[in-house]
Order: sequence, then structure tokens, then C-alpha cells
Amino acid sequence: MKLLDGKLISDQIKSEIAAQVKNEMLDNGINTPHLAAILVGSDPASETYVASKERACKEAGFISSVYRYPAAITENKLMEAVDFLNKDPEIDGFIVQLPLPAHINEHKIIERINPAKDVDGFHPINIGRMVLNLPAFLPATPYGIMILLERYGIETEGKNCVVLGRSHTVGTPMSLLLSRKTNPGNATVTLCNSFTRNLKEITSRADILIAAMGKPSFVTAEFVKKDAVVVDVGIHRILSEETKSGYRLIGDVKFDEVSKKCSYITPVPGGVGLMTVAGLLLNTLKAARKEIQY
Ligand code: GUN
Repeated sequence: MKLLDGKLISDQIKSEIAAQVKNEMLDNGINTPHLAAILVGSDPASETYVASKERACKEAGFISSVYRYPAAITENKLMEAVDFLNKDPEIDGFIVQLPLPAHINEHKIIERINPAKDVDGFHPINIGRMVLNLPAFLPATPYGIMILLERYGIETEGKNCVVLGRSHTVGTPMSLLLSRKTNPGNATVTLCNSFTRNLKEITSRADILIAAMGKPSFVTAEFVKKDAVVVDVGIHRILSEETKSGYRLIGDVKFDEVSKKCSYITPVPGGVGLMTVAGLLLNTLKAARKEIQY
């Protein structure tokens, strides 16, 4: 078994971006890319994600800023905050960290983002353009996974890929990217959900298995074909007596047993999470270069 090392590949991507920002963009008079994040409330996981995005921006030579609002902000006020960033010429791209409080309609907020600044790739225009294989910002997690597969030379063409979980941010776009007429892509994809019957039978045929259903340690060795490639999107914090902090992170895959059976696997942490941030940085670079015309 070999690790699909998200730390190694995301570090490579960050230094490649930093070199481009330094040499090419500043020479050509293009401003330093600037990524902003809107953070509503103080959900600990969201705080962690936003902090890691800020750290990554620094490493890539980008400017980053965070706009914080209380959890009680009204939907209208949040729309105004989005409008403000849409208009600010200094900001190339921004994200609205999810989840939002229950009284705010997530779809309404996402639809308000200017698609040309939607570096999360969540706006219906970007999703639609992705489906049609037109230039678009790709959702950061599936984009990061595609890069990881590509950099490890993992062939997807003609392969059976099974995606577990159909979330709008990961499972659904992941299934679309793998089945598009692109390289990587051209796979035969099965997208499973909680109603799927005979799940083990389906996953046991997967050459590439993407676990993104958000259930800790759900995927055991029985689900996995020998020598399959396994990508674990889950991040769960569980109590642990073995660490100083009193907790540790685990994924949707039972790493100890699955890693003995598969050919490649992403670790948690150090796998997909870091590739999501890399995908976001690449989108921000494209936004700063105005590479995608709408
Ligand atoms: N919450 C969890 N993952 C993500 C992500 O990729 N983008 C945003 N905006 N929120 C998230």
C-alpha cells in the first residue's frame, strides 16, 4: 500500500503557486491574489478550516482576509456582506464558510456571489459550466482529489469508480468530474446514497472508491476490492486517551484494515483536507488572472 500524501502534494502546489505569484504575476503588473472568507458564528470546525486557509494563503504568497459576523446576522445583512465583496476590486475571490446558521438560506447566499469570484465553485453557474465541461471554478474538494490522482499517475479512464455520499459540495461534483470527458476522467461512476441497496456488492467492484458520506470508520475492509485506490474525505474528531489534546481525527474509512488491502489510500489527517485548500488556492489564482470568462 502507498499513501496518497496530501501534505506532500499540497506543499508542492503551494510552492509552485508562490513561484508564479513572485516571478510571473508581479513582473506583469498583476496584483497579488487576494482571497477573502466570510465566517458567520464560531463553529469550531469552521474556525479551523478558515485558519488553515489563511495559513495556506500566506505560504502561497496571497493576501487573505476574514470577515466575521455574529451567528444572529440576518439573511439580508449577509447578502449585503456578499454584495460588498462582489464589488470590492481588491478581492479576487471569496468563500462563505459553510454551514450557515439555520435561519439563513444557504442557496440564496451562494446564488448572490458573483460567479467570477466564486472560488469555492458552489454557484449554480459554476456547477452548470462544470457539467458542460466549460471553463469554471471547480468545487475545491473534488478538484483537489482529481489533482491528487493525477499527480500520483492513477489512471481513471475506463475504471469503475464508486462515490459514497451525494453532497452538493463533494459527492455530486466528484461523480461528475470523474465521469467527464477529460483526463483524469472518463470513468464509469456509481454515486451511492443512504438508500443504496447492496452497498458492499457495489463498492467491492470499485477500482477507485471515494468515501464522502460523513460516517466515521464506515468503510471496512469488506467494502474494498483488493488493490483498489481509496480516497477518504471524512474528517471526524473523536475522543482519544492516546493524544495530549484528548482527541484525534479519523475518516470515513477504517484505515488500519483497509490500508492492508488497497493499493493507495489517503490518510486522515494529511490527505484530502489539505488538497481542498490547494484546490481553493488554484481557483483563487485563476480568479486573479481572470482566466475564466463568463
Ligand atoms: N465547509 C466545509 N467544507 C467547506 C468548503 O469547502 N467550503 C466552504 N465554504 N465551507 C465548507
